[in-house]
Amino acid sequence: MVSCGMTSSHIVGAGHLVNGIGRDSCDAITISSPGKLNVFLEVRGKRPDGYHELETVMLRISLADQLSVRRNDTGTLSLRLSDATPEAIRAGIPLDGRNLILKAAEAIRLRLHDRVGAEFILHKRIPPESGLGGGSGNAAAALILCRELWNSPLSDGELHKIASSIGSDVNFLLSGHRAAVCRGRGEIIESIPVSRRLHFVAFRPRQGNCTTDVFRETRLPAELRSSADVVRHLEGQGQGRLSPLMFNRLTEAAQRMNPEMTTLMNRLQHIVRRPVFMSGSGSTVFVVAEDSLDAATVLQTVRTLLKRTGWILEC
Ligand code: C5P
Repeated sequence: MVSCGMTSSHIVGAGHLVNGIGRDSCDAITISSPGKLNVFLEVRGKRPDGYHELETVMLRISLADQLSVRRNDTGTLSLRLSDATPEAIRAGIPLDGRNLILKAAEAIRLRLHDRVGAEFILHKRIPPESGLGGGSGNAAAALILCRELWNSPLSDGELHKIASSIGSDVNFLLSGHRAAVCRGRGEIIESIPVSRRLHFVAFRPRQGNCTTDVFRETRLPAELRSSADVVRHLEGQGQGRLSPLMFNRLTEAAQRMNPEMTTLMNRLQHIVRRPVFMSGSGSTVFVVAEDSLDAATVLQTVRTLLKRTGWILEC
């Protein structure tokens, strides 16, 4: 197990990062790379750097990729997908320098001042452009693996600084927190102590959403919503259900841009008779389930009526 206490100035709150790392007989090291679900997302304004100021509540979910790495002596960095990665998502995953895994590895290597090499194998389950943070989680996993592989003396704070330069969601997934309120671009994180197990059922339309486009098309609100009630609910305070407190400001723009997603949301709402939400910038949409039995029932109903597969996501 590798432990990463949070000491960086851009990390708020007293969390800690714990990730299980496995080693095999060929000296490959492997780590699980979970995704995230946004149960609240408000866009608080546009920043001078072109990004948007966010207030979002992210949950680490049970749906995860798996990333393995082994050292090589040629000084190159390479990445391939596992043979078991589903055909349907292979095409959307770049295996060159655009992939955040290689960006993360290169960022660590630069700080080592050494041309060490590494071969990554990614077993991908989380589709790209789905709003589930698959690529960001892969970057977080790569940072942890490279520090271990190359015996880098980088501190947790330094790892978090690199994370924030790679993408807005990387810090949350690097932190290992189960849930957090994330502010700034998304990189300022405050852990939420979640009081119970949470269950969701999620579906992804065929068409993904481009995050940049969704942010660009989002109209800034006249009145800001606050995550306070969602946070209180997750902490076990307050009565009632979670879903009436949930919200995602990016939904309207994403619905205008992805009619297939809008239709799916409407159909789901009609079938399961409960509010349907979008995670991040989409295009994954989801509903809240009462427990694991309810989640299985919802998944089965949608499978039968809409001929769609989905995921039960737990947090
Ligand atoms: O940080 P990340 O690379 O994941 O962001 C992808 C794109 O989403 C950015 O290039 C930006 O257009 C948009 N974005 C934003 N404000 C944020 C996060 C992302 O405008 N807080």
